[in-house]
Amino acid sequence: MSRLVVVSNRVPAPGKGKAQAGGLAVALQAALAAKGGLWMGWSGASSGARDPGAMTFREDGPITYALTDLSRKDIDEYYAGFANSTLWPLCHYRLDITDYARKDMAGYFRVNRFFARQLAPNLLLDDLIWIHDYHLIPLAAELRQMGVKNRIGFFLHIPFPPPDVFFALPVHATILAGLSAYDIVGFQTRYDADNFCSCLEREGIGRRVSDDWIKTSSGHFRVGVFPIGIDTAGFERAAQDAEHNPAVRKIARSLVDRDVVIGVDRLDYSKGIPQRFQAFDRFLRDNPAHKGRATLLQVTPKSRSDVPHYLEMQREVAELAGRVNGELATLDWTPIRYVNSSIGHSILAGLYRIARVGLVTPMRDGMNLVAKEYVAAQRPVDPGVLVLSRFAGAAREMDGAILVNPYDTEAVSQAIAQALTLPLEARRERHAAMLDHLRRHDIGAWCGAFLEALREGGQPG
Ligand code: F6P
Repeated sequence: MSRLVVVSNRVPAPGKGKAQAGGLAVALQAALAAKGGLWMGWSGASSGARDPGAMTFREDGPITYALTDLSRKDIDEYYAGFANSTLWPLCHYRLDITDYARKDMAGYFRVNRFFARQLAPNLLLDDLIWIHDYHLIPLAAELRQMGVKNRIGFFLHIPFPPPDVFFALPVHATILAGLSAYDIVGFQTRYDADNFCSCLEREGIGRRVSDDWIKTSSGHFRVGVFPIGIDTAGFERAAQDAEHNPAVRKIARSLVDRDVVIGVDRLDYSKGIPQRFQAFDRFLRDNPAHKGRATLLQVTPKSRSDVPHYLEMQREVAELAGRVNGELATLDWTPIRYVNSSIGHSILAGLYRIARVGLVTPMRDGMNLVAKEYVAAQRPVDPGVLVLSRFAGAAREMDGAILVNPYDTEAVSQAIAQALTLPLEARRERHAAMLDHLRRHDIGAWCGAFLEALREGGQPG
């Protein structure tokens, strides 16, 4: 059995239990814990002005972590710059805030080369290499240049936009060529995969010879759709156990007689948090019977504070929560409980279980694992209702959700009202279908499907 080598920008701190750093880290930790292997990435720390040093290795159960610091300049240009001020907004259809600077692009390629140089000497001949997300697109091409012949797969966790959006990136052809250096490129939805293929064809880099295969001037590579799942059984268990968790019980007591609507997101403009607050405000004004009863519990850890648009957002969201609460709160009721800290896995599972509505309304999202976790955490005999943006990848699977357009404040407001008044039978029916899907398509199935495709290779159909 070949060893699995995973590379991602963000790696959870070894030995600290379940990752909190975001969907990707949580998902991969579950996948690697099952199979064991090497996980390489950024330590999250800065080496200051100095050049980053060599990788440090740490064993934690079946996983060996290989972590590297980055210099301040690298973090600014590669992480805060090209990855999160250029590629992230571009892939989330936000051309209005997509910044492009040649120095950031150079930093992005420099750091990818650095990662490749660190990784290559640690590879075994039959390692399967699985690279994750938009930070590391050029890594396969760099490894190939160093003579690495292993099979290398890439999975994009975020959306891939259509050509008219993607071609706004001045170096779009270079990025497309970087993706074409993999043996397989995986996407969350068929829509993302189709957008990528259209970009390749329009740019003349590759031609689709079947649903899953692209022919380029130097050979073939595979494109696949692998919607990411969660550790469904683990989450169901965590939510059951959380009923006895003293911290969850204390929060539940503070919400007695309240109808809890929950939102959980990193503080990111793609998540639609201001739009959600506006919709909740609309809902309360249009449905006075719910005033004094419904509470939106919005858990929002701060994120990427070194990127200017994120800082602006922190202010905007805090002001909006303050305004809604200032106008509508009473002495014993706060409409929006807005919490900036990140919350441990088991408390989160307990909060999902208390909530009658999961309000997941990103303006654009690759998948959105919160939607899936919310469903897995419900009590099947009396489940809550998922209200989900049609622009999240999860909307293509979660067909028991009430789907909404997050740009339509009134529609979201009406969906909240509908969710809070849905009869038990309808709630059970919607929930059962989604839970069944999540059990069959969990994180293990996702990981297995991708790795099987990477291992086997196959031939163009
Ligand atoms: O899931 C998308 C993603 O960008 C991951 O790659 C990342 O780990 C997560 O969101 C959190 O973002 P960051 O690593 O920038 O804190």
